Amino acid sequence: MTTPNFSPSISGLFGLLGAEAQSAQAAGAPDPSLIAQLANQLFSALPGSASAPTPKQPTLSPVLAVAPQVASPFPLPVAPPTLSASPLAPGLTTPVGLSPSANDLRNVPSSFGGALSLVPSFASAPKLPSSSGFYFLDEASSVRDAGKIPFQFDSISVVPELVEKHPNRTPDLGFGVARPFDPRAIRNDFPILREQVNGKPLIWLDNAATTQKPQAVIDRLTYFYEHENSNIHRAAHTLAARATDAYEAAREKVRGFLNAGSVDEIIFVRGTTEGINLVAKSWGAQNVGAGDEIIISWLEHHANIVPWQQLAAEKGAKLRVAPVDDDGQIILEEYEKLLNSRTKIVSITQVSNALGTVVPVREMIAAAHRHGARVLVDGAQSVSHRRTDVQALDADFFVFSGHKVFGPTGIGVVYGKKALLDETPPWQGGGNMIADVTFEKTIYQPSPAKFEAGTGNIADAVGLGAAIDYVNSIGIENISRYEHELIVYATRTLQTVPGLRIIGTAKEKAGVLSFVLEGFKTEEVGALLDKEGIAVRSGHHCAQPILRRFGLESTVRPSFAPYTTCEDIDALVNALQRIKGGRNH
Ligand code: ALA
Repeated sequence: MTTPNFSPSISGLFGLLGAEAQSAQAAGAPDPSLIAQLANQLFSALPGSASAPTPKQPTLSPVLAVAPQVASPFPLPVAPPTLSASPLAPGLTTPVGLSPSANDLRNVPSSFGGALSLVPSFASAPKLPSSSGFYFLDEASSVRDAGKIPFQFDSISVVPELVEKHPNRTPDLGFGVARPFDPRAIRNDFPILREQVNGKPLIWLDNAATTQKPQAVIDRLTYFYEHENSNIHRAAHTLAARATDAYEAAREKVRGFLNAGSVDEIIFVRGTTEGINLVAKSWGAQNVGAGDEIIISWLEHHANIVPWQQLAAEKGAKLRVAPVDDDGQIILEEYEKLLNSRTKIVSITQVSNALGTVVPVREMIAAAHRHGARVLVDGAQSVSHRRTDVQALDADFFVFSGHKVFGPTGIGVVYGKKALLDETPPWQGGGNMIADVTFEKTIYQPSPAKFEAGTGNIADAVGLGAAIDYVNSIGIENISRYEHELIVYATRTLQTVPGLRIIGTAKEKAGVLSFVLEGFKTEEVGALLDKEGIAVRSGHHCAQPILRRFGLESTVRPSFAPYTTCEDIDALVNALQRIKGGRNH
């Protein structure tokens, strides 16, 4: 794919509403009723509208039963205040605005039958490639090269053949097709993004720490407590059946999300940290002995260092660390040299939470398997950005946290291959995980119950299921592509701030950028950005070794989600330029 030479707008990507809004921005003040009109026209063309085929009715709950066929059951029309344009940094092009224009309604397609809709100001833009649905930088262009690429996007609307068709799309919500990808509509699904912070619209760029929750997840939790709450697997009454059904339905959603072969391979835990601890303290305790080796990498979060360190100390095993290069990429040849017949397990992150590096885990798993080692993949920072397929990866274990993927806190998942889980002893004992108990002996349930002692986080597992429905309704590939463009855009525009140095320049990055600003402590930058309503994480990101690899104790880390817009990034860049220019303190 080549890089078309588009007209000046760079922060298109917002689909039809964004494109409409852009030309309207020049025309005058926002008019929510016009946006409403536009949105109604858009959505009346979707399945679920009067003229569309009858949708499959949701079965899960009354709340979901009234959800329309598009993922957002909530009014799309009114733009959240976050999108009011901030003054542009010098040298940056204008982001798409929000204000609608009646004239632009002529470009609303009468159906999502295939045509792209370009507003008049884009009429001279070259035709977009019809196969991808998104305009991307050349596939070969990497985040590392972002600064060198003439950055020219244009706004497009997304049409059905361009929208991902995903087999695991949520059956409960009955989506016939994925929703059109529109970051503004997505943004509108997240009530917290309408918050004001320090008198400014909230710009949430701390998604690597936790993602915000869509209304669908919030409603699902409320519904659970209003209509289903009970302990599970333990009683013959109606609410126990409802709660058990909801919890097990969530397990099936997780299975589909990871493309695991069986729900028996899906264990609910509190989060990634607990998941890694579970594997280290059950499988690890059984399989790692004196003289054995455990491999991690320099990129790891403390949660993927400490449990292995503890295990190694306890067993007399050795912790070995695969090094990274100056771009923050694992040096594969060095990693392979660490592997040998004593290697029992490799535990690696799929995406670095500190630098954003995407790790070639498939290749690393294959190499480990050639030496008979097992592999755990830490998916905490990858699941919300990329398709996960544990079978294609051939991962032995895969862990992630619900709260990083628009679900609640306190719920996470361990995937383990069934044969491995069958052989692995439980790590905690108690109710729910037993088949029979006498004072002499306990017989355990098979997985997953064997690993879920006690009353788990039932409601939040159900909430995670709703979050997965939500992601599926957008399409994870759509999210990946959009976020790739965002990260390229952010990489380029951040480099316009004098004295800003990006830490981690891997060819492939996801979700996260790290930087330092000459003359400022990172916590100072974080606090000054907060005054502008911009939330980023500054600190060591629970990944001290990798920051020290770059001679640092902390960085500033903006991190992205599908509701992040180029305007958010522009606001960040502008604020940093003001901070650097001394105009803000
Ligand atoms: N692991 C989370 C982060 O990277 C908390 O911020």
